[in-house]
Amino acid sequence: MPTLVIVGALWGDEAKGKLVDVLAEGADYTVRFSGGNNAGHTVRLGDKLFRFHLLPTGFLRPGCTAVIGGGMVVCPRSLLEEIDEMSALAGTTGNLLVSGSAHVVMPWHERLDCLEEALRAQGIGTTRKGIGPAYEDKAGRRGIRMFDFVQPERFRERLREVLPLKRRLLKAMGDDKDMNEDAILSEYLPLAERVRPYVVDTGSLILEAAAAGKRILFEGAQGAMLDLDYGTYPFVTSSHPTSAGACMGTGLPPTGVDKVLGVCVAYATRVGGGPFPTELDDEVGDRIRQTGREFGTTTGRPRRCGWLDLVALRYSAQANGFTALAVTRVDVLAGFQEVSLCTAYELDGERVERFPTDTAALARVTPVYETLPGWEGNIPSIRTYDALPEALHRFLGRIEEFVGVPVAVVSTGADRSEVILRRPELLW
Ligand code: IMO
Ligand code: MG
Repeated sequence: MPTLVIVGALWGDEAKGKLVDVLAEGADYTVRFSGGNNAGHTVRLGDKLFRFHLLPTGFLRPGCTAVIGGGMVVCPRSLLEEIDEMSALAGTTGNLLVSGSAHVVMPWHERLDCLEEALRAQGIGTTRKGIGPAYEDKAGRRGIRMFDFVQPERFRERLREVLPLKRRLLKAMGDDKDMNEDAILSEYLPLAERVRPYVVDTGSLILEAAAAGKRILFEGAQGAMLDLDYGTYPFVTSSHPTSAGACMGTGLPPTGVDKVLGVCVAYATRVGGGPFPTELDDEVGDRIRQTGREFGTTTGRPRRCGWLDLVALRYSAQANGFTALAVTRVDVLAGFQEVSLCTAYELDGERVERFPTDTAALARVTPVYETLPGWEGNIPSIRTYDALPEALHRFLGRIEEFVGVPVAVVSTGADRSEVILRRPELLW
């Protein structure tokens, strides 16, 4: 049963989209299981740039079915815009299915996201797409699911129940723009009409596909350190981007997962608030940000940049059960005389090698680095692992040794062709 879960290993933006696109060749299904349009997955094909937020990247592969899983929260307006944009840009696409269990992001979610963020003493720096409030409503059993949304009568009924609560809440929070039922219906009923043909029960479909031995690729969004439970709470997203989330968000049992590929950048990035032990607030950080063009795909914000944190990566590998690693953007570090890897922390005067899950403790650590020689050359043009510079072999070898997981893939540039599948047997 070839099922592969791809997970962002740290705080998101690990170039997962590009990897999923590469590995989707030959996949029967690519499935998103968590988050919503807070994600930004970029695929570059020649001179065309595809920026995905909601759709699984496998949508670009004819013959592949792209699935929006039940664990996601979906803004119908963004979904339809993205379908139109991608279809026009790509010419031909795969099929698309949307789980009826996925929750709908409604206009009040975006407004509440902005209001809540403004009231926080320490901002999370959310993407303001309404993701947190939509998941709050799901947990509070006030959400509107796709199954309800695409049936006009059921949608009206749900709206009649939920809207008065939201109006009261918004008013109490100082938002006096009224939200009226007729206006919402006149905007959302036509959207629902267009979304309806895609909506099915994807849970049983995925189980049947897995049982039939189909190749299913689960496309993680965000990163494991943004997981609601395992991440740096409260500076997290409101869903489960970890490998377990692939089960929760699609209905696949844990025993149905064959392999888990953790994706990390050769350095580290984070957008938004929260502790980030290896952050570089200096010209090295600036150089990484400029060379790596580390600006958000979804929000355009500059990303915080730093050295790769192996303590956090090992914790992530254990929590996700990574069976292989993909290291991306190794080209960005080319030209550095020396590069660093964080292999321990100092916490309250003591050396620790275990990742503290108490976020307040994590905020107090200082990183302990190992320094390795840097590498040079036109890295994106290299097509085999052996041809990579010796110093890069050593760098990747140290990651494998510390984390205890083999590096199966090295991504050397942004294009689909700029990737080395060093150990393909660890992928499918
Ligand atoms: P991809 O899939 C990086 C971050 C936000 C914020 C926190 C909560 O492109 O890797 P939210 O809007 O989800 O409530 O924001 O999570 N965040 C991401 N950071 N990459 C992402 O997705 C992210 N999605 C959310 O910056 O700190
Ligand atoms: Mg992103």
